[in-house]
Amino acid sequence: MSGRFDGQTAIVTGSSKGIGKAVAEAFAAEGANVVTNSRSYDRAAEAAADIEAAGGTALPVETDVSDPDSVAALVDATVEEFGRLDVMVNNAGVTIIGPAEEMDPADWQQVIDVDLSGVFYGSQAAGRQLIDQGDGGAIVNVSSMMGSMGLGRRSPYCAAKGGVDNLTRTLAVEWAEHDIHVNALAPGYIKTAITDQSQESAGYTDEDIEKRTPLGRYGTTEEMANCVLFLAARDNFVTGEVLTADGGWTPYAWGSRGD
Ligand SMILES: NC(=O)c1ccc[n+]([C@@H]2O[C@H](COP(=O)([O-])OP(=O)(O)OC[C@H]3O[C@@H](n4cnc5c(N)ncnc54)[C@H](OP(=O)(O)O)[C@@H]3O)[C@@H](O)[C@H]2O)c1
Repeated sequence: MSGRFDGQTAIVTGSSKGIGKAVAEAFAAEGANVVTNSRSYDRAAEAAADIEAAGGTALPVETDVSDPDSVAALVDATVEEFGRLDVMVNNAGVTIIGPAEEMDPADWQQVIDVDLSGVFYGSQAAGRQLIDQGDGGAIVNVSSMMGSMGLGRRSPYCAAKGGVDNLTRTLAVEWAEHDIHVNALAPGYIKTAITDQSQESAGYTDEDIEKRTPLGRYGTTEEMANCVLFLAARDNFVTGEVLTADGGWTPYAWGSRGD
């Protein structure tokens, strides 16, 4: 197997399923050694086994991204196995849905801990390693188009993702001198467990999403993986950018689809 990431090592947090799993598989298909990750060793190991079955190389590591020690151990295990780190994808995320006026502070905190602090801890642990190595690297944070929009009953999620966007810009500026490129991907609606959870709670249908999206469909996890690999490649002069991949959801005002 050979490809664009030959000889490189990539960590993808939250890669037991959904977008993260597709990202991990895409890096492996392009030649990278990949570290799969989940809160469960078994789920990370299943994702790693799928990569190995397809001819790639993968190491499963159990990590809770909301725990900075656990995230530091993830990077240590990666370097111990593969000798170095090149790409960190901070993808793990959760949501808790409910009216702001009734939001339990513990629920608020949990989403912030995973979706915002987890991205900081992952960036910090990776940044330390990349700075020590001295030859640059890439960090890609998986945000959301909801980082720059208001979606009712998602106050901690939208706040966390907005924080990820500006954390991304800040780290890009701070670590540019180390040639560490820091970017974010802001997906629109992609069919995964998170969107199933939202759909159940909010009562919208697939057809509602398809009608609201100019491209007329959900995005795929493979399309999100293509975007992450573009941002991780460092052959594009892009850093501090939030790339929105939403099928036209954000720019769409009304009536521009000809229907
Ligand atoms: N799907 C969408 O439409 C969409 C849109 C915009 C943004 N996003 C973002 O894309 C990212 C991936 O979402 P997804 O749709 O692929 O969701 P998903 O299918 O629910 O996958 C979430 C992943 O995160 C992991 N995870 C959750 N909490 C974790 C923690 N504390 N530590 C380590 N891993 C943890 C889960 O692993 P385990 O459960 O195995 O621990 C799982 O692998 C998230 O940041 C999400 O906000 C998704």
